[in-house]
Amino acid sequence: MSLKKVSRISCEQVYNIWKTEPELLQLFDLRSKSEFDSGHIPGASHIEVQSLRDQLMHLDQKLAVLITHDSAEEDIIKTCEKFNNYALMSHCHRWLELDHPLSGDGIKRTFERFDDLFKKGEKHKMNSDIIFHQLFESESSTYTYIIADKKTKEAAIIDPVIETVDRDVKLIEELGLKLIYALDTHIHADHITGAGELRKKLGIKTAVSAEAEVPCVDIGLEDGQELLLGDKTIKVIATPGHTNTCVTYAFEGMIFTGDALLIRGCGRTDFQQGSSEKLYHSVHEKLFKLPDETLIYPGHDYRGHTSSTIGTEKKFNARLSEKISLPEFKKIMSELKLANPKKIHEAVPANLACGKPQDARTLRPQVVDGTPEITVEDLFSHMNDVKNKKLKLIDVRRPEEYNGELGHVDGAELITLGPDLTSYLEKGDRSEEIVFICRSGGRSGTATVESQNLGYKFTINMAGGMIRWNEKKQPVVRN
Ligand code: FE2
Repeated sequence: MSLKKVSRISCEQVYNIWKTEPELLQLFDLRSKSEFDSGHIPGASHIEVQSLRDQLMHLDQKLAVLITHDSAEEDIIKTCEKFNNYALMSHCHRWLELDHPLSGDGIKRTFERFDDLFKKGEKHKMNSDIIFHQLFESESSTYTYIIADKKTKEAAIIDPVIETVDRDVKLIEELGLKLIYALDTHIHADHITGAGELRKKLGIKTAVSAEAEVPCVDIGLEDGQELLLGDKTIKVIATPGHTNTCVTYAFEGMIFTGDALLIRGCGRTDFQQGSSEKLYHSVHEKLFKLPDETLIYPGHDYRGHTSSTIGTEKKFNARLSEKISLPEFKKIMSELKLANPKKIHEAVPANLACGKPQDARTLRPQVVDGTPEITVEDLFSHMNDVKNKKLKLIDVRRPEEYNGELGHVDGAELITLGPDLTSYLEKGDRSEEIVFICRSGGRSGTATVESQNLGYKFTINMAGGMIRWNEKKQPVVRN
């Protein structure tokens, strides 16, 4: 084998020789000592550039393979000018990516802490023929992703948010991409999708699980379906559990999991037909069957993580690691007791309409002196909406009045005007439809004004209050 004139050698060539005729090679690792200690090719020795000439002079018939970062190559080439018994190993990080054997004490730690988050992310930027961008919307802590085929520039956006559509369109234009799809991982409850807006602006196709039965969507996705981006494929994996409409998108060694699998956690399972049992099966039987090095890009993160891998989550996910059984997971999920997302009443109807904000009001109040009002008759004909929780009734009187002579309307919650009501309203959902009730309509009018000052859009005063309700002989409750 004549190796003497080679000045560059690929990672694959090194591996083949290292495996079959290791005596032909002398591997010199010129990276920093700490990088060498963390992980290196078995048999390689760590040396500094200054001692390189000395080493090359005493090599006999061996070929010196020099392992270094691309950025340090120039110095090394200068140092070895007079020698022809060395070859630079191109793109040495590929040794890791190809899963070849490694030595080094810190290798486990390095893999877990940095490789997942940095080197493999870099792989996509440096080596492969895709374009990848991770974007963040801070109000709902949502990650939006742009993925593209570098050759054809065909691109998809995953989980766009309506508030950040202009930012995303600008980036797509700057990158010269041709957006083909806007893909939602599920019907979101915490933000309105930007998919419909992107379709309006760029004429793209929107897609979400067929389970969601969204009539305005272009593609209703099925499990296993494939979408093309140039000569590459986005594969759809149904991962129900957080909601019944959740899908994961797999593309070039990465998966976009929405809220099915988060970094060290998972989405809640207590609304939108969620099921902890289904989520457990989706993650363990589908996602955890993917190779350990598969990169996970979640729909949200609240702690500053950006990505993980299947191998890492199998070990460290606080709810879904391999150590946790289905009954344990179900218990964890049933004990979460989370408040509803702030935008749920606005976001879910809008997302079922491709991101078009919906006026979900059930009542059509008259505006009297700037305050929306309904009559007792209006409320009486909507008591079914109270029962179905589309409409909330808040009685703002004192407790002794609530259960006193006039009684209260069935389903009305007692929250007395003053600090109690203020603190309730400050924490509440601004898009919830609420009717305030009091004795004659005065205090409930004040409550309506207060709520509107706090940004509530659909709060209403019931004119005439419980006096009028009783005059109209409507049923009352006393506890
Ligand atoms: Fe979600």
